[in-house]
Amino acid sequence: MVHLDAALGEQLLDVSIRQAVAQVLPDVYNKVTELDAAVGGQLADAMELRAKDPAQQAMLAAYLADLNLPDKAAVVEIGCGTGAISGVLAARAGVGEVTGVDPSPIFLDRARDLSAGAANLSFRQGDGHDLPLPGVVRLAVLHTVLSHVSDPVGVLGEAFRVLRPGGALAVFDGDYNTISVATGDIDPLQACADAMVQNFVNDRWIIRRLPAMTAAAGYTETRLRIHGYAQTTDPAYLLSIVDRGADALVAAGRIGPELCQALKSEARRRSTAQSFFGYIAYASLTARKPG
Ligand SMILES: C[S@@+](CC[C@H](N)C(=O)[O-])C[C@H]1O[C@@H](n2cnc3c(N)ncnc32)[C@H](O)[C@@H]1O
Repeated sequence: MVHLDAALGEQLLDVSIRQAVAQVLPDVYNKVTELDAAVGGQLADAMELRAKDPAQQAMLAAYLADLNLPDKAAVVEIGCGTGAISGVLAARAGVGEVTGVDPSPIFLDRARDLSAGAANLSFRQGDGHDLPLPGVVRLAVLHTVLSHVSDPVGVLGEAFRVLRPGGALAVFDGDYNTISVATGDIDPLQACADAMVQNFVNDRWIIRRLPAMTAAAGYTETRLRIHGYAQTTDPAYLLSIVDRGADALVAAGRIGPELCQALKSEARRRSTAQSFFGYIAYASLTARKPG
């Protein structure tokens, strides 16, 4: 018989919950061509919600400001989803044609609807591992995509191929191992955040290996920046993360609908009581293909 003190017992319980969650859930973004319309629509809504968040917009603006582009630069966004980032790129002064590429017809339909009227923006179906483009691009952007793909080194290599010599790479992604909605030890909401990462992220550690990966792919002038992201008083995006994690736990048979609803309600109770706290460290990396 092993006697644990309460704190250690609680820590082990926390670890075992995380491991149980880790074993059962796959990354749906890695299977976007297989999604039904309802799930695809929910993911599209989540992308749009995040894109409207001023703190997310500020992080995008911060890393785009690191780039020095020639006039009328051709840009590709690889993994453009519903096109929110492509739209921002197309509206930037000096940017020429922007092409958004994504494997999902559901996301691309939404992107085309939302972007109607932007003359320098178009969308193509394609996979980041085998881009439907020649090497004419001045900037390749991967915004929260590399953590989802099956072969991130292959995608970085394809981005390198389509860039002109001297062209720029910009990667932005979550350092998803840092995601937290806990406000103390053994916080049940944290199981939702962990389940969301397990269900919607292929590699939660990718940011830590990204500088080595880009160097191996041939890029130089690498710059990595960390962007802290917290939501407290109006946590719309992080509530959507709690919801997706709770739903994933139900879908995996780990909890029933009553607990799922209770977890979602608890997140909203905290939000109303101004005691919600959610955090993700994001990172941006800019680099260049040698000229
Ligand atoms: C979290 S979403 C980000 C969408 C968009 N970049 C944004 O930030 O709004 C991840 C995107 O990666 C796309 N994706 C998944 N696998 C991909 C692949 N192999 N090649 C290109 N895109 C992929 C998904 O279809 C999805 O649109």
